[in-house]
Amino acid sequence: MAQLEQIERELISESKIRSRVRELGQEISRDFDGETVILVGLLKGSVVFLADLAREITVPCHMDFMSVTSYGNDTESSGEVRFLKDLDEDINGKNVLIVEDIIDTGYTLREVVKVLSARNPKTLKICTLLNKASRRLVEIPVAYNGFDIPDAFVIGYGLDYAQRYRNLKYIGILKLIEK
Ligand code: IMP
Repeated sequence: MAQLEQIERELISESKIRSRVRELGQEISRDFDGETVILVGLLKGSVVFLADLAREITVPCHMDFMSVTSYGNDTESSGEVRFLKDLDEDINGKNVLIVEDIIDTGYTLREVVKVLSARNPKTLKICTLLNKASRRLVEIPVAYNGFDIPDAFVIGYGLDYAQRYRNLKYIGILKLIEK
């Protein structure tokens, strides 16, 4: 069966994203006053968010990236996570802030937190742009949350469907149509 998709509607506008990202940056800067923080982006979805967030943070920060994928189909995660790229930096004794685009079931971050906390960072916190709290299957402590969103498949501002839509300036809801 062929599948078509279309953007059903805009969920979060470009200007709402911009002002919330600014607030998150201010909050993070206050919390890490006098410290250096390593921003750890999870490729590829968090790249756009991390690039904007970093420029709203006023304390010294480094940027590093990990690549993980969760097994599953296009829109559902299976709970198994595969690590494709590790960090370049040693995080022992450092402040680490994981920057994620969206938390859905929580499986991906559970595995990332397990791996990174074993390296004894000074602090390990999570910042997510979007949170689908109603879909959570494992508990994840989120220090900074951009927006709580409903259970819908969203795209844009770094988030993709089949690698497309990452360059949209807003967050939209995607509708899949079976033909
Ligand atoms: P989790 O492991 O179920 O929490 O899923 C996290 C990952 O699934 C995210 O980093 C995204 O890559 C992907 N994901 C979950 N929900 C969406 C969505 O609505 N749109 C695009 N990607 C999503």
